[in-house]
Amino acid sequence: PAEREALKARIRTLLRERGAVMVSHYYVHPDLQDLAEETGGIVSDSLEMARFGRDHPARTLIVSGVRFMGETAKILSPEKTVLMPDLDATCSLDLGCPEGDFAAFRAQHPDRTVVVYANTSAAVKAQADWLVTSSCALDIVRALRDKGHKILWAPDKHLGAYIQRETGADMVLWRGSCVVHDEFKAFELEQLRRDHPGAKVLVHPESPAEVVAQADVVGSTSQILRAAAELDATVFIVATDNGMMHKLRTLNPGKRFIEAPTAGNSATCKSCAHCPWMAMNGLRGVLEVLETGRNEIHVDPALIPRARQPIDRMLAFTA
Ligand code: 13P
Ligand code: SF4
Repeated sequence: PAEREALKARIRTLLRERGAVMVSHYYVHPDLQDLAEETGGIVSDSLEMARFGRDHPARTLIVSGVRFMGETAKILSPEKTVLMPDLDATCSLDLGCPEGDFAAFRAQHPDRTVVVYANTSAAVKAQADWLVTSSCALDIVRALRDKGHKILWAPDKHLGAYIQRETGADMVLWRGSCVVHDEFKAFELEQLRRDHPGAKVLVHPESPAEVVAQADVVGSTSQILRAAAELDATVFIVATDNGMMHKLRTLNPGKRFIEAPTAGNSATCKSCAHCPWMAMNGLRGVLEVLETGRNEIHVDPALIPRARQPIDRMLAFTA
């Protein structure tokens, strides 16, 4: 603990000296969430991370999360220095949607409006008409449906199928998935719900359909957080990365949050629903990048104007 406090103190000083601000996702270590908030940065979902990074006057952004979050920040603010604690922190959705394969998929469906999830590379974003996150995907697809658009969706198949079911939009889906949310198990969740009859179930829509079907609320990380505060219940079962528990518990001290069961494990498994790439972010990494300027995010400048278009559309739609 003394070493942790010393690391934090050094980070606070360097953030001030470098004119830098921290932008953290809800899935990273609690230390990085708290430090971001305490030093004038933000902890939030991927949509608000993007907006905050774009609007904050700091010259340097320290993005604690996964690579697509750093790239989005850079695309929106090419003039800023964007640093990440670990440049290898990627995402299975991004890895599962290579730009060349995606271009071929698009070419098969030239009549469709291309809606791409934020969890993708800059090169895939540069092929999109719209970017969405799980906070706004339903509203954006609904609006496109109402204007008669047929949709090509990538890369998360569960989120895509959920939106298709909810909106009835004509959608062709890429078949990617999140290694964390794909593991939530419907049968075990049913059992857990029987053990906690009054519990409300909060589910991130990257989870399989049979899990989503049991939800009281389906939503992004920020929507899950809001639901936990607003719903009149004392026990919640939560199907999302367990990094989320930190904020859920600190903001709702009178309520109990139980992790939804994952692959081959019971509800007592405490570590399986955690993104291995989010877990690469730590205090040491933040300190090192502040000291050395290493781990800067670069996005091909030739891609930036085109990749920015769908992000700008999303930010304007949700403003
Ligand atoms: P949110 O946009 O809901 O924060 O989700 C990002 C993510 O990576 C979920 O796994
Ligand atoms: Fe990607 Fe899943 Fe990790 Fe989110 S939790 S960053 S979707 S692998």
